[in-house]
Amino acid sequence: MVKIAVMGHGVVGSGVVEVLMKNHEGIERRAKEGIEVKYILDLRDFPELPYADRFVKDINVILNDPEVEIVVECMGGVNPAYDFCMGSLKAGKSVVTSNKELVAEKGHELLKVAQENNLNFLFEASVGGGIPIIRPICQCMAANEISAVAGILNGTTNFILTKMITESMPFDDALKLAQNLGYAEKNPTADVDGHDACRKICILASLVCGKHIYPKDVYVEGIRNISLEDVAYAEKFNAAIKLIGLFKVQDDGRIQINVAPRMVSKTSPLAGVSDVFNAICVVGDATDEVMFYGKGAGKLPTASAVVADVIDCVKHRVARKYLYWDAAQEGLIADYHEEVCSMYMRLCSKSTDEIMTIANELCRECIYTDGVNPDEIAIITDIGSYAEQELIAKKFIARGVNVISAMRTLSM
Ligand code: HSE
Repeated sequence: MVKIAVMGHGVVGSGVVEVLMKNHEGIERRAKEGIEVKYILDLRDFPELPYADRFVKDINVILNDPEVEIVVECMGGVNPAYDFCMGSLKAGKSVVTSNKELVAEKGHELLKVAQENNLNFLFEASVGGGIPIIRPICQCMAANEISAVAGILNGTTNFILTKMITESMPFDDALKLAQNLGYAEKNPTADVDGHDACRKICILASLVCGKHIYPKDVYVEGIRNISLEDVAYAEKFNAAIKLIGLFKVQDDGRIQINVAPRMVSKTSPLAGVSDVFNAICVVGDATDEVMFYGKGAGKLPTASAVVADVIDCVKHRVARKYLYWDAAQEGLIADYHEEVCSMYMRLCSKSTDEIMTIANELCRECIYTDGVNPDEIAIITDIGSYAEQELIAKKFIARGVNVISAMRTLSM
């Protein structure tokens, strides 16, 4: 019997205990050993639970118990999760976490100590909840050179955008609904401003590059400024607006990584991903595009990924699983102005004929659509660097054309 400890008995932590108990027979068969939760660390008491006697409040009980071989961290946040995970590794215990903030900020340090101590530090649940993505990138696609990863990595924003698209619900109402349904926090910044998606694309990019990519080095734009008019124009261009975490390898070997709302053509399977679902598209040179889809959050989907990692730890107690990235590399991340993409621009002036004439002068080639309001049209520009696209927007303004909104399109 392998003894484990679970730190945090919130949504995910309680789900982990529930899945381990509910599916214990199948889990034992697959792990080839039984798994027992010896301790649960939480500051709160849960006297009503049948396993109330396993709760402890002091991390040292876990760290000092040699019987505990695996520690599961479901507390969230960097502190004290980092100290507790580091302490566990230094005490010779493998660690499994669902904490994307911890992995995005401290992944290299924790992986290094895990490697030095021949232990596992696994985090399948940190990206995409129940969707298998870390293991497929590291193992199933290990033969590939991966050139791009594009993901809908945040369920809350995808839910809000879906309501805007399918029910013409304004952003503020859709956010309130997401809060009422428990998807969005009272303070929704991490979701709607793109920081949660940023942490997740950083983890995937770090895995692909083998170097730590820090969220602070990544350009991030959220969805607060998306209007129902933008949504209507996307439809006219046979596209849908999605918040995309994007990682691409440039021809010079440096990488492009950012989070931003994008017009995604309906020819891409990402355009059809609705509600709270997540999807991640990975481009390998041997596989071409591979898509992963499913529930990116929630108690049991996330617990599913955590428990799978626990099983993997049990099966890899001697030879650790190879999962590692080095420290950050200076100069690896290219400036976001270098990204090559085409842009959607919503333009307004005294006459639409005049806008078309100016657009034809400023852009090599562009696609037009009629305005959803008088004196407006929208265009998709020819591809060029983001710096060139900004210059085009400035030239429109200098010629008296108001650029009401602008947004990148997705090309991989
Ligand atoms: N707030 C996140 C989301 C939860 O909406 O996707 C999972 O990380």
